[in-house]
Amino acid sequence: MLWFFATNTRVALQKDNLRRLLRTVEALSDLGPVITAERDFSQCAQAMLSVVREAGGAREAALFALHDRPSLLRSLASEGFALMPDPAVVPLLPKHIHALTTLQGPTILDAASYEIYLSSNGNVAPELFKCIAPLKTGGKLVGMVALGRREGEALYDPGEFEALDLLCHYVALAIQNHSLSQTLTQRVSENLRLLASLHGFYDNALQAFAAAIDVKHVNVHGHSLRVGRYAAAIGEAMGMEPGEVAALRAAGYLHDIGKVAVDKRLFGKPTALDPDEFREMADHTVVGHQIVTGIEFPWPRIPEIVRWHHERADGSGYPDSLMMQDVPIEVRVVGLADTFDAMMSERPYRESLTLGGTLSEIVRMTPQKFDPNVVQALLVQVRRDSVGSNRIAFLEDRAALNLAPTDVDHLAATLQHKMSNGRLYLT
Ligand SMILES: [Fe+2]
Repeated sequence: MLWFFATNTRVALQKDNLRRLLRTVEALSDLGPVITAERDFSQCAQAMLSVVREAGGAREAALFALHDRPSLLRSLASEGFALMPDPAVVPLLPKHIHALTTLQGPTILDAASYEIYLSSNGNVAPELFKCIAPLKTGGKLVGMVALGRREGEALYDPGEFEALDLLCHYVALAIQNHSLSQTLTQRVSENLRLLASLHGFYDNALQAFAAAIDVKHVNVHGHSLRVGRYAAAIGEAMGMEPGEVAALRAAGYLHDIGKVAVDKRLFGKPTALDPDEFREMADHTVVGHQIVTGIEFPWPRIPEIVRWHHERADGSGYPDSLMMQDVPIEVRVVGLADTFDAMMSERPYRESLTLGGTLSEIVRMTPQKFDPNVVQALLVQVRRDSVGSNRIAFLEDRAALNLAPTDVDHLAATLQHKMSNGRLYLT
């Protein structure tokens, strides 16, 4: 007889285990699509909570995520509770975090254990929760599932916790993933904001620098600022990235920084410079290079641009007599922007050239002195001014000197003709 009862009990237990296992598998198969569905995380949290609540046989449930500084649990979703604030917040002391972290799976709460795991200082009474399950990944607490009353006030059975624990493991992973992606987004936007403010700061500081470089003579006032602006516009017309364009602007502002060491008298000399004076003036490239080398600018190439902006495509420039292919494209852009502005500006020993005269001269000197692609980009910007399609005029204060679009087209055609060595390509 005893043997009969024992066998029956064993069979009943096996059936029970099998039922639990089936329920767990069923809940897990529900949870999979819920976690991986493409939707808003709050909807995902709500759906996960429903699955867990049903698996736990609860009528009420809430899902919490752990937040740092200050440590607290904040609800992501809740259902079934008559009065549950949104969000519900439960501040945690270090002892609570320790207790929740060391908790191995779900546990039933009673009057004696509430304060071990939760504080009463939040906007929700811990007594609403009858069973809690910690959410952990890699041994680290990331949140908590809290179950409230069951149908008919039935008690929770620790024998059912295995399934709940398994589900909570997946919920914990989903919460961890979400908080990681949120942190990443926050960090990226914070870095971008810092970078933007840093660029603003640099731009303002460099503009002040550029103005200071050009104080030596009235004829060069505003030169570095204009070169920065022209270089950036040429880079933009060449399809460069915003970061590269910003670098060109900064390099234009600083390209003549070495002139701080040149005798002020040379800038106002009404005749051509003698060889010694020319050497002193030309040395501004090397002196400038010495000044900016070692400064950690947010853009590369500044030292090369400062040193080589007077190099010419045929190797006739200074200080290193480099050929076009030996200097980076940024150097060629700033070199052309510098020449363009210098030709359009008055000097003590010569009048300024007109815009048309300047561009004709530049096209005449290309490709011997300048990179044709850079010259073409300069023409693109001037043409945009001529048809009024530049939001801010490329020539800004010199817009009155503008050319007719047909004149710019004529110059572009001349450049093309030169580049194809006089050959005509008919289509
Ligand atoms: Fe220069």
